[in-house]
Amino acid sequence: MRKIFRAAAWGASALLVLALVAGGALYIASQRRLDRTWTVAGHALTVPTDSLAVVRGQHVARAISKCIDCHREDLGGGQFIDVPLMARLYASNLTRGKGGVGGTYTDLDWERAIRHGVRRDGTSLLFMPALEFQFLNDDDLGALIAYLKSLPPVDRARKPNSVGPIGRALMLKGDLALIPAERIDHLHHAAAVPMSVSAEYGHYLSEVGGCTGCHGDHLSGGHIPGTPPDWKAAANLTPTGIGHYTEEDFFRALREGIRPPGTPLDSLMPFRNTKHMTDDEIRSLWLFLRTVPARAYGGR
Ligand code: HEC
Ligand code: HEC
Repeated sequence: MRKIFRAAAWGASALLVLALVAGGALYIASQRRLDRTWTVAGHALTVPTDSLAVVRGQHVARAISKCIDCHREDLGGGQFIDVPLMARLYASNLTRGKGGVGGTYTDLDWERAIRHGVRRDGTSLLFMPALEFQFLNDDDLGALIAYLKSLPPVDRARKPNSVGPIGRALMLKGDLALIPAERIDHLHHAAAVPMSVSAEYGHYLSEVGGCTGCHGDHLSGGHIPGTPPDWKAAANLTPTGIGHYTEEDFFRALREGIRPPGTPLDSLMPFRNTKHMTDDEIRSLWLFLRTVPARAYGGR
């Protein structure tokens, strides 16, 4: 009997040691990636100062690229994820107020953060959707920066970020794109897409508007990476999914959050933002979605 106990005790301590070693290796490998710094030259752009540009920038921040969803309505920042085993991330205060970056950021710093996902000190911004914002054209980004610089100061100190064991494991496995800077070609400069009512402009909006971020690169829907398993999956926006839509149905989905024949969409679909997109923008998205090849649901 005692022998069995002794063997069990040995087995348990061996397992414990193994778990500690595996945990330590996981921690070291993930920390190395989290601590990596980047030297990004960035792309200098002229930031306008006129009030028209500021209004356009506000439209980008609210209706198109949805900065307010994570950085809060006043862009003074706030807790974005607070699931300790996964991650605790705080979306920065973007204003000139105390605790904000607005007072110290240069135009090039803004560009590097927004299009490259790199902080002023060269470290990676976690979960900031630079992967999508890398496609922002100079006009929209310039207007956006003009708007950010015009914001009334908000005094709000940020809280530190931390990444928990599950977040680290998912990141190493490649299931959680926690570090957008790793997946961006920092030398590439996106070609300017002129503003028009066209499928081409709709394609641009689908990227900088985060449709691809949630609905997938091929827009075929599925579980949104990084969200809890019980969260609503994104819908298939290819003809397999919304081939039955009319243009009117599409406007209704983006403006009112209602899908045909009249059922409400989950609030994870950000219609509170898309409802402020202009008719031309929504029409361009619609024109673009009609050119997307049909794909089975979740075919990412
Ligand atoms: C899905 C949530 C999300 C959205 C949408 C988002 N951000 Fe962020 N952003 C974050 C998080 C989280 C951080 C902090 C990352 C960190 O500290 O590692 C951040 C950091 C930043 C920073 C760096 C500030 C610093 O601390 O140095 C800038 C600049 C920024 N965001 C601008 C924007 C702009 C402009 C938009 C809209 C075009 C935007 N963000 C949209 C989540 C988001
Ligand atoms: C934050 C994630 C997120 C973003 C960003 C997002 N969506 Fe969605 N969307 C969803 C989810 C989740 C659903 C499914 C809602 C449901 O099933 O109730 C959805 C549903 C839809 C539907 C309804 C489809 C159907 O099956 O009837 C349309 C249309 C749509 N999205 C279009 C867009 C467009 C266009 C964009 C970009 C401008 C966009 N979405 C951006 C998460 C997102």
